[in-house]
Amino acid sequence: MGKKKDSSAQLSLGDALAARPGKKDPAPAPPIAAEPEPVAAPEDHAPAKVARRATAEQMGQRQREISISEFFTKNRHLLGFDNPSKALLTTVKEAVDNSLDACEEAGILPEILVEIGEATPGTPATATEAKYRVAIEDNGPGIVRKQIDKVFGKLLYGSKFHRLKQSRGQQGIGISAAGMYGQLTTGKPVTVLSRVRKGQPVHSLDIAIDTRKNAPVVSNEKDLEEWPGNIEKEHGTRVEIEMVANYLHGQRFVLRYLEQTALANPHARVEYRRPRLPPLVFPRAADDLPREATEIQPHPHGIELGALQLMLAESKERSLRGFLTTSFSRVGPQPAALILEAAKLSPNIRPSGVDHAAAERLHKALAEAKLMAPPTGCLSPIGDALVRKGLINFLSVIEEEGPELELALDAPNPSKAVLEAAATTLSGGSAVATGPAPGGGASPASLGGGGGRGPPLRRRRRGH
Ligand SMILES: Nc1ncnc2c1ncn2[C@@H]1O[C@H](COP(=O)(O)OP(=O)(O)O)[C@@H](O)[C@H]1O
Ligand SMILES: [Mg+2]
Repeated sequence: MGKKKDSSAQLSLGDALAARPGKKDPAPAPPIAAEPEPVAAPEDHAPAKVARRATAEQMGQRQREISISEFFTKNRHLLGFDNPSKALLTTVKEAVDNSLDACEEAGILPEILVEIGEATPGTPATATEAKYRVAIEDNGPGIVRKQIDKVFGKLLYGSKFHRLKQSRGQQGIGISAAGMYGQLTTGKPVTVLSRVRKGQPVHSLDIAIDTRKNAPVVSNEKDLEEWPGNIEKEHGTRVEIEMVANYLHGQRFVLRYLEQTALANPHARVEYRRPRLPPLVFPRAADDLPREATEIQPHPHGIELGALQLMLAESKERSLRGFLTTSFSRVGPQPAALILEAAKLSPNIRPSGVDHAAAERLHKALAEAKLMAPPTGCLSPIGDALVRKGLINFLSVIEEEGPELELALDAPNPSKAVLEAAATTLSGGSAVATGPAPGGGASPASLGGGGGRGPPLRRRRRGH
């Protein structure tokens, strides 16, 4: 079988390139065949000619576990550390959320201090990347000594993941990720201070993360008799992280977040100390804690088959009847009996003895059972009265850079002139700041126009 070249029907890449418009074709035009011959099928390339690069064994030697910390170091955008502007907001948010969660759980009216300081003195106001020391301090319950290392030095370690209860954080990854970002950009560990009650020492320690092992490395540990700078402080936690950040851009997001935190948490006092501008205080506007959200069991209508199988395998109940009534919300003895009847399962079998086919029947029966909706006690809405108090508090302490400047800063690449205008605002040049209104800040007069200072409030709704 001879290889036939059909010059009219098949053009090589060289031919095609040579035939591009503008290129002079040096070859004479091929004669037009009166009747084109059938196109020959392309022949297979011989696979033996491709050199093998690696064997399965060689590849196998390179396959190893990836630690969670290594993964998130490379994929830090997944946790909100995409860039130096956002890192500032994410860090403040993770730590403040933890403080609010801890105070709420312990039944303490929160007092939160957020401090951002320049780690390198003389950082110019126009700097778009510099080292900052971010500290968040609370008057919460504190953290017992043996848990401090892992809370701050191990990703996926926390107290909220395994329960169904409303809280701001849940995954056990927030504060340790912030510490890891700080370590990655400055090489410095996180500094933690914590005290659980009066009479107990204040634990002070530095915590780095061994990212290969996802494990804490503690240094510089000491126990202090009193809280540094505040001998009255009986309990609480302070975390300090040094990180590369863009304060010029990022400070607006931190400010908005703290304003909104004050709005949604009128029972908290929030103080914000920052470079170049006077501190801001959002006073406490309500003396009651929000109602505590109750922990609930999963509702049968929301359970997935794999999760049900795991619950069955891990259940300590002796019977399926007991399993259903203790593991799910809204399943009492009556509905349990109906569900088991629909699934054709005896109420007395051990949950761990349920095979795959039976679990599928049970799953279907659970999904189809007529049950009451989950109880709403698992949620703790702020409520009208507190929203009102929060709103007054929020509007009494407010700042804005002016909508035009904010819009210009939001552009992907703000011009030098815009950055300089923002730096001037940061230096107090033209900031429209209304400090706490006279008499504690919660003055309804400030609803009308910023307490008489500056132009009327012109807030732009922000989408973050
Ligand atoms: N300021 C704090 N006061 C008391 N406990 C805290 C504080 N910050 C963190 N914790 C504890 O550390 C855990 C881990 O925090 P974090 O990594 O942010 O995860 P998450 O908040 O999602 O549980 C929390 O679940 C909580 O038990
Ligand atoms: Mg958290």
